[in-house]
Amino acid sequence: MQTTYVMIKPDGVQRGLVGEIVNRFERKGLQLVGMKSMIPDQTIARTHYAVHAERPFFEGLISFVTSGPVVCMAWRGVDAIAVARRLIGSTNGREADPGTIRGDYGMDMGYNMIHGSDGEDTAAAELALWFPEGVMEWTQDGQRWVYE
Ligand code: RTP
Ligand code: MG
Repeated sequence: MQTTYVMIKPDGVQRGLVGEIVNRFERKGLQLVGMKSMIPDQTIARTHYAVHAERPFFEGLISFVTSGPVVCMAWRGVDAIAVARRLIGSTNGREADPGTIRGDYGMDMGYNMIHGSDGEDTAAAELALWFPEGVMEWTQDGQRWVYE
């Protein structure tokens, strides 16, 4: 089992796509173990995207992600990190496969609606950053019908 950090970015919230996006994770069979909304401050945004600090798009990315509400989620399942990345699709919406979130709803590189952790170390770091209070430990009865 893995837990991954997924975040609907301000464009996804502004476009009214929160329900559409959450639905895709839910119906896939992942278990929701954390969910909240906030307008990120500079500190949390810069920490989250620290790996891109030297890139030319960094300041634009920070002002975008702090511009309005995001929806922070933690989803759990077998190989949840890779499964979530597959549901999300490749970074540029114009190139992302149809059927993925970015492929179905996106037309841009920066405004790509959603973030998903890209590995075990980043998932752990991002969950600690966005959910310092921890995630919910609970048993979802329907999960026994998700895996044979
Ligand atoms: P994310 O981290 O948000 O899940 O996206 P990702 O792994 O698919 O892409 P990543 O390379 O980590 O880039 C992080 C975010 O920075 C913006 N970006 N803009 N203008 C550009 O060339 C450029 N490259 C990346 C995107 O919003 C991307 O999601
Ligand atoms: Mg990334």
